[in-house]
Amino acid sequence: MKKGLISIALFAAMPLCAQETTTMAIHPQDGKQIIYKEIYGQFAEHLGTCIYGGLWVGEDSPIPNTKGYRNDVLQALKNLKVPVLRWPGGCFADEYHWRDGIGPKENRPRLVNNNWGGTIEDNSFGTHEFLNLCEMLGCEPYISGNVGSGTVEEMAKWVEYMTAEQGSPMAKLRKENGREKPWKVKFIGVGNESWGCGGSMRPEYYGDLYRRYSTYCREYNGNHLYKVASGASDYDYNWTEVLMKNVGHRMNGLSLHYYTCSGWSGSKGSAISFTDDDYYWTLGKCLEIEQVIKKHCAIMDKYDPNKQVGLLVDEWGTWWDEEPGTVRGHLYQQNTMRDALVAALSLNVFHKYTDRIRMANIAQIANVLQSMILTKDDKMVLTPTYHVFEMYKIHQDATFLPFELTTAKKAVRDDRVVPLVSATASKDGNGVIHISLANIDLENDQTIEISLDNLKVKGVSGRILTVNHINDHNTFEQPNMVKPETFNGAKVQNGNLKVVLPSKSVVTLTLD
Ligand code: AHR
Repeated sequence: MKKGLISIALFAAMPLCAQETTTMAIHPQDGKQIIYKEIYGQFAEHLGTCIYGGLWVGEDSPIPNTKGYRNDVLQALKNLKVPVLRWPGGCFADEYHWRDGIGPKENRPRLVNNNWGGTIEDNSFGTHEFLNLCEMLGCEPYISGNVGSGTVEEMAKWVEYMTAEQGSPMAKLRKENGREKPWKVKFIGVGNESWGCGGSMRPEYYGDLYRRYSTYCREYNGNHLYKVASGASDYDYNWTEVLMKNVGHRMNGLSLHYYTCSGWSGSKGSAISFTDDDYYWTLGKCLEIEQVIKKHCAIMDKYDPNKQVGLLVDEWGTWWDEEPGTVRGHLYQQNTMRDALVAALSLNVFHKYTDRIRMANIAQIANVLQSMILTKDDKMVLTPTYHVFEMYKIHQDATFLPFELTTAKKAVRDDRVVPLVSATASKDGNGVIHISLANIDLENDQTIEISLDNLKVKGVSGRILTVNHINDHNTFEQPNMVKPETFNGAKVQNGNLKVVLPSKSVVTLTLD
């Protein structure tokens, strides 16, 4: 209580820092690390209207669709270049039995989704529907297997069903269900949040179960699996310690979940009505992910100095109160420019740690938490977060360029300090340099001087996402309130760049 009072007093006493020029010194020759495209991964759970209504409406729907997938959503996701899609959960995964979702639809059981609002799950979207969607989007599937309430045999046979070419009972069953060739499945999660909804386990016990379940996830016909152990929730460093010690190189990756929210009990606050203080606090909480990543990485480095085990932030994003009037337990929330800035700042952090971070999956792709897309009947809107992912797709598989950034900072509630400008830079396969910048300042533009060692910039073009009010968002009535525009605020001066970055904005620049 005392500590809270002190930090509030401090916060009140520290207004916005006086405006000063931000500098960014990029080192184009020193880039080593690829920004794995999987850092731009998505997550689709049987939760609320993420799958049913969001991605899938069924072939008989009056909503325009291709084989049951919404055409508008398919088009939007293709444009996003989704690299990997995690499914079927989340918490849902540890109660999902894959055999319920194969074969003729009329024979598939109708069950209660115990995790998410008690909604009836008719299993019309199952393994075939998911893997075919990944093929249509050109993305890798990331299957989350059931450890909490499933058997070793069930998981082993699921892998066989999806990936065995021929001559096995599961390959035969798949062919009977209409799919001749196996799918390519690389990423397989062995349980989800096994410390919580995935079985309430201790790390020692889960570590042993991981060893057992993963042993029987076989590699058929040259299909190489990347096996991911269920990892820690944000500050649970002991979980990572025990898993690294007891499982080590038996896993290819270890997950981490980090949500930008105010905690797990009580109100999380509204997605669209918030104070300036709430806003800055949120960005401070979002940036805290860097310290969390560093600490997990330090533990991983101790057991795996050659960085063979990847860290997969396979759930992240903002978590607000559900929108008034929506179904409890469906986690439907709106998405403002505040969320767009959380996306940009988080991606900027992930880029810095790609020597360890192998993948990240924002939660979730449609209609749940920090979505890319919101749908209502036949209407669809793209959220401000979607636009950040679309603007940032230029960084996928590019080489991260190291840089120093000097910028003003703001003191925030709970002893946090947030830099007003956040940035990242990369060089793509064609040698083109892209820079992304975010100005979180609610009132002031920021002037940024960017140098690139000896490299002289010839020209620059850009795009900007910005708003008049920080809580501006897209609705079914006004779907284009927040959308990217051409940016003319960057100028070349003596081979360097001078950028005037408007308040509340995300900008991407392409250099000539
Ligand atoms: O994304 C919503 C839920 O958050 C997931 O199902 C679970 O893994 C996490 O707690």
